[in-house]
Amino acid sequence: MSENSNKPTMDKGAAVRDGFSSKFGIIAAAAGSAIGLGNIWKFPYITGQNGGAAFIIIYLICIALIGAPVMLSEFLIGRRAQRNAVGSFKKLAPGTPWFLTGWMGIAAAFMILSFYGVVAGWTIHYVILSVTNAFSSWVEGESVEVFVGLISGADGKWWLPVLYQVLFMILTSAIVLGGVKDGIEKYSKILMPLLLVLIIALDIRAITLPGAGAGVEFLFKPDFSKIINNPASVLDALGHAFFSLSLGMGTMITYGSYIGKKENLGVTSIQVTIADTVIALLAGLAIFPAVFAYGIDPAGGPGLVFMTLPAVFAQMPLGALFAVMFFGLLTVAALTSSVSILEVVVAYFKEELNMTRTKATIIAGSVITAFGAVCSLSYSDISFFNKAIFPTFEFVLEDGTWTFLQQHNFFDWFDKISANFLLPLGGLFIIIFVAWKMKKEDVKDEVSNSGALKVGYFVVFEVLAKYVAPIGIILVFLHSIGVLRLISWALGNK
Ligand code: PHE
Repeated sequence: MSENSNKPTMDKGAAVRDGFSSKFGIIAAAAGSAIGLGNIWKFPYITGQNGGAAFIIIYLICIALIGAPVMLSEFLIGRRAQRNAVGSFKKLAPGTPWFLTGWMGIAAAFMILSFYGVVAGWTIHYVILSVTNAFSSWVEGESVEVFVGLISGADGKWWLPVLYQVLFMILTSAIVLGGVKDGIEKYSKILMPLLLVLIIALDIRAITLPGAGAGVEFLFKPDFSKIINNPASVLDALGHAFFSLSLGMGTMITYGSYIGKKENLGVTSIQVTIADTVIALLAGLAIFPAVFAYGIDPAGGPGLVFMTLPAVFAQMPLGALFAVMFFGLLTVAALTSSVSILEVVVAYFKEELNMTRTKATIIAGSVITAFGAVCSLSYSDISFFNKAIFPTFEFVLEDGTWTFLQQHNFFDWFDKISANFLLPLGGLFIIIFVAWKMKKEDVKDEVSNSGALKVGYFVVFEVLAKYVAPIGIILVFLHSIGVLRLISWALGNK
């Protein structure tokens, strides 16, 4: 295939490539990608499941030692190549199979956005519920019933979650359609600061609730026995660092290709990493004091946000207002992330398959929306969707016997294959590519803007990228395919 050479692009005129126009726009767009359902929906519930503060400390270590160097690696690949996730590898390592890393990223993007849009769709439903002040009249237990009713399509309303998912995908596509400067950057610049303001307002409300102290303590007072007794927590923390920072599928390669040659990639990586982490912590601070103040189980699982917070809002002064703010914020955060996922595919279609942005967006958006609808329906009572497609069983070893755990639906499959398999593997290849395949002079040249910037941290980056991060990612990977669980079982730990 020879589309490696000078590609006939659809861009008019000379080699003008769309890109971010300002420093703040870069940070807002990249941080907007990282900050999403991962921070506000997933981080609190897995922190709750893993016992709180000690888990957060391990998570922070993973972010610093693995997340930050992988992010810098993605940025520098993208900016050096000036291409999408696939084209970047073709350009930097022509004639090698490295571009398959990009293909894996495209596959991950399709899968992640399919189920991501479903969860984001649920949040839209909750925005509407809070606008109509529905929570205030709920009796105990009703929030669980309402959530389960929504996702399972109770009362013949199987189409409702699908409708929300489609709506969310239309919003995502509309922003991506606008292109980099006029679409992604413009919206992120408005939405991201708004998000920060909303979440701080929620924090203030939450920590001033009577009985909030226990929640704050849960978040900030570590009990390491919880981690020592459950070694898998460490790997959970590492895996979530990956998902939360949008790493491993070429999102930051694609965004890196839009970053100007004068920007400082190292500093940008650190700023995005810090912004993502701060938002996750602020989200935890908004949720846990309230969870504890109202005696809700912090280990309540993936339903934590949707099932318990409406109950909390219902019992709160000005609850309706805070509910609108919270679910509005969650939708906004999901939107700036979903845009970055779709952009990975659109940039690939546009540059490698020579489509216009419009055509690429419509094709990618429609296919993902269709897959998303199947993901959504796999929670419904319609047996064709919830049983017929990929019925799988998971068996876990409990007290010496294998026990049937659950039947995975389409949604679970997409979630598991992408987040637990494709992302860690993609991230591993990306960091190995930078640390072991690219020439050190080229890496240094890109990071230092051809010597214009002092990069005293380069030695640290090198050690992290060559050794620490790959080994860490391999551990996440082994964990996610269950190898470590097998080993630990074989060693008699379980
Ligand atoms: N980081 C996003 C979140 O936390 C999800 C995401 C994953 C986005 C992978 C892009 C790529 O919600």
